[in-house]
Amino acid sequence: MSSFILVLLCTLYATLVAAIPQAVTLAAAPVLPPKGKVTLTTLDVDLEGSGCRPGDASVMLASDNSAMTVIFDNFSAADGPKNGGASTRAFCRVNIGMTSPGWAFDISSADFRGYVYIEKGVNASLVSRWKWIDKNGLDLKGKGNIQKKITGPFEDDFLLHKDGEVSDTEASVCQKKDARIRISLSATVDSGTSKKNGYVQGGSADAAFGEILNLSWKKC
Ligand SMILES: *[C@@H]1O[C@H](CO)[C@@H](O)[C@H](O)[C@H]1NC(C)=O
Ligand SMILES: *[C@@H]1O[C@H](CO)[C@@H](O)[C@H](O)[C@H]1NC(C)=O
Ligand SMILES: *[C@@H]1O[C@H](CO)[C@@H](O)[C@H](O)[C@H]1NC(C)=O
Repeated sequence: MSSFILVLLCTLYATLVAAIPQAVTLAAAPVLPPKGKVTLTTLDVDLEGSGCRPGDASVMLASDNSAMTVIFDNFSAADGPKNGGASTRAFCRVNIGMTSPGWAFDISSADFRGYVYIEKGVNASLVSRWKWIDKNGLDLKGKGNIQKKITGPFEDDFLLHKDGEVSDTEASVCQKKDARIRISLSATVDSGTSKKNGYVQGGSADAAFGEILNLSWKKC
């Protein structure tokens, strides 16, 4: 399992590095909490989601705390005669908690990776949303989403990039101290009356969706 995740992370990393424009390296070095200062504490998979069960999602923090990677194992949606028993909509929602005494973060950007195969006459849609909640499950300020609609025929691994909605004031970032982040992922495949096939799943080489969230930190 862990070597599988390692291989997946390397693939993700290589894909992302290839996608990053050169100019980005000229930006000022980000402020990051020191190593060991941030600890992931909880990862709950919402059982409401039909697309995943406990154990199907995992999260990792980069060693320099600059990014968080969420892997959704076994996430797929399909329609058509060859749907293999998968349903036309998959939904997975996770809540991630971490402790970072004296620090809080926004999500500065998100990259999302998966694989889509849809024949002519089939449509697919993908949506991922994230937001902050407090320990009672109430919404805090700050959220973002990535959405993509695809019309068949289409077959490819895809990479989506979205910049986050970073808080404008330090106070609203610091309000997120000790908050939890809730991430949902949904995929829908619709072949209508076409009797054609379509599916959305993890990368062609494996069965997992990957989402990399870039974190921008503030000292609070
Ligand atoms: C993936 O999900 C399907 C359907 O929910 C289930 O039958 C299968 O055992 C799962 N596979 C793994 C590797 O968890
Ligand atoms: C797919 O999308 C196209 C363009 O939005 C629409 O015309 C068509 O009816 C959709 N097909 C299905 C099966 O939903
Ligand atoms: C994360 O942010 C850094 C610094 O802004 C940037 O160089 C990098 O391209 C970003 N990574 C992703 C995956 O967006």
